[in-house]
Amino acid sequence: MPNVLITGANRGLGLEFVRSFAADGWRVHACARNIEKAKKVKALSGDVICHKLDVTNGLKVASLARELADEPLDLLINNAGVYGPRTGFGETDYEEWASVLQVNTMAPLRVVERFVGVLEKSAGKTIVNISSRMGSIASNSSGSSYIYRSSKAALNMVTRGLSVDLGPKGFTVISFHPGWVQTDMGGESADIPAEDSIAGMRKVIAGLTPEDNGKFFNYDGSEIDW
Ligand SMILES: NC(=O)c1ccc[n+]([C@@H]2O[C@H](COP(=O)([O-])OP(=O)(O)OC[C@H]3O[C@@H](n4cnc5c(N)ncnc54)[C@H](OP(=O)(O)O)[C@@H]3O)[C@@H](O)[C@H]2O)c1
Repeated sequence: MPNVLITGANRGLGLEFVRSFAADGWRVHACARNIEKAKKVKALSGDVICHKLDVTNGLKVASLARELADEPLDLLINNAGVYGPRTGFGETDYEEWASVLQVNTMAPLRVVERFVGVLEKSAGKTIVNISSRMGSIASNSSGSSYIYRSSKAALNMVTRGLSVDLGPKGFTVISFHPGWVQTDMGGESADIPAEDSIAGMRKVIAGLTPEDNGKFFNYDGSEIDW
């Protein structure tokens, strides 16, 4: 069966990704920065291997990549993310902005740079960056949320760059909007439960072809303007 590595796997969308892939027999490398307390992911049945990983810790990312060097990785899901302070124009906290960029934008590229060797050995060669419609420049008609929006817009640029650099080596790299989802980040009044978001994204992932390299998808498979 194929292998997948998921960051931020202890709750929310990450946890549901783990549950879903493991239920279908995949080997799942589930990463969480506080794995000792990640009871829900540890309790899942199936071929789930838990790793402690704060995605902003470059040394730890590199050492995990070395640890998994002999195991081809078909799919990498850069899921870990933070919203940051929900502030409007005039209230921007610049230190918090830098922290959000570390998690949402810089860490996904770092993970790809460290894991590209193990991804290259696989049949799948697929990289999925969990972005957000909030990062679509074309869709921004409501302003505000500068920190989160800019971090995901920059992540989308990382996706496009990776698609150009890695596409010729057989990779497919995409960004996803997972929907507005009922998680700690999305809140209780969000549109859909995590199960629906993950089912939709998994269907899209399963149907990806080389022509999809460098695209920005909604969880239902429709494309989103950058
Ligand atoms: N929910 C939505 O409506 C929605 C919409 C659009 C996009 N998204 C995106 O979907 C992804 C998952 O979001 P979610 O809704 O599942 O959010 P969530 O419930 O808040 O979960 C976020 C996950 O990211 C992890 N994380 C944060 N910083 C980390 C770090 N430095 N290292 C490792 N893990 C870290 C968290 O770990 P801890 O438990 O240790 O904090 C947690 O597992 C995010 O990228 C988010 O931006 C969500």
